[in-house]
Amino acid sequence: IKFKKFEKIVIIACGTAYNAGLVGKYAIEKWGQIPVDVELASEYRYREPSLDKKTLVIPISQSGETMDTLMALRYAKSKGATIFSVCNTNGSTIGRESDAVLYTHAGPEIAVASTKAFATQLIAMYLIGLEIGRQLEHLSSKKCKEIIKELTQLPAKVEQVLETVEPLRELTRKFKSADSILFLGRHTGYPTVLEGALKLKELAYMHAEGFAGGELKHGPIALIDNGTPVVAIMPTKDSVLAGKMASNIQEVKARGAVVIAISEDEFAGADHLIRIPQVDPLLQPVLAVVPLQVIAYEMAVARGNDVDQPRNLAKSVTVE
Ligand code: AGP
Repeated sequence: IKFKKFEKIVIIACGTAYNAGLVGKYAIEKWGQIPVDVELASEYRYREPSLDKKTLVIPISQSGETMDTLMALRYAKSKGATIFSVCNTNGSTIGRESDAVLYTHAGPEIAVASTKAFATQLIAMYLIGLEIGRQLEHLSSKKCKEIIKELTQLPAKVEQVLETVEPLRELTRKFKSADSILFLGRHTGYPTVLEGALKLKELAYMHAEGFAGGELKHGPIALIDNGTPVVAIMPTKDSVLAGKMASNIQEVKARGAVVIAISEDEFAGADHLIRIPQVDPLLQPVLAVVPLQVIAYEMAVARGNDVDQPRNLAKSVTVE
C-alpha cells in the first residue's frame, strides 16, 4: 500500500478490536502524522459519513465475519475508499472483500473473550504506524529500528508480567463482591482500560467502566465511594502524564477508593502496586493489558463463571 495518496485513515471495528483501533490511532498519528478516526462499525455504517478515494479504511476483526464491520466496509468501498483490513481468520469475508489484508496470525481464538487476538491487533497497528511513518518520512530510521527492537522484546516482557501476577490473583478475589470496578488510564492507558473494563464485564458479569484520567472531574468521580476498587495504569515516569495520573489517584483515594496501580516504576501512591517492564509509551498496552486480563479471568473464576463461554455472548457476531 502506498500511504502517500491518502489524506485520512478511518479505523472501523467493534468491541475489543475497536479498543485495539484506538491504540492504533495514537501510534499512527504520532509516527505517521496523518489524521485517524476510530469508529464503532455499528455507528459508522448508519450515519452516512463523508469519505472518498483519498480515505484509507482499516477494518479490524478477529473473526473477519462481524456483520457490523463487514457492512461498514461495504459502505466505505461503495464510496471509493481503499480497504486495508487487519484480520485473524484466513479466508474470512472481511479479508476477501478488502483490497489488502494484514493477517494477525494469532491462531484460532477459542475463548469468547478476545485476548491473544487483541495483542496481535496491537502489533499490527504498530507495524502499520511504523510503515506510514517511514513512507511519509515523519519517522527516522533510527527511531523505527528502536521501536522494532522493542517490539521483538515484547514476548519476553509479557512472560515476565505473567510470572509476577500471582499476588494480583489473590488480590482480585478480595473484590469479588464489589458492586463495580473502575479503571483509569491516560494516553494509551485509556484504550487499555476500556479493554480491561470490557473483559471484566464479559467474564465476571460485573459493572466496570474505563475512564480517561482527565475526565474524572467531569463526572465519573461521583461514582467513588468508600471501598470502590479503582485500577489505574500509570504512564511511564518520564511523561508529564505520570504526575497527572498520580493526582487522579490521590483524588479517588481521598474519596475512599482502593487503588491498584499498574506501573513500570516504583510508585508509593496506591494501595497495591503491580509492576510491569519498561517499554515505549505507545507499546505499553501490550504489557498493561495483561494484568487487566488476569483480573477479569480471576474474578470470573471466583464468581463461578465459565471463563471460556460467558453467558449471552457468541464468539462471532454475524447478526446485528
Ligand atoms: C471481545 O472480547 C469480544 N468478544 C468482542 O468485543 C469482539 O472483540 C467483537 O465482537 C469484535 O469481533 P471481531 O474482532 O471478530 O470482529
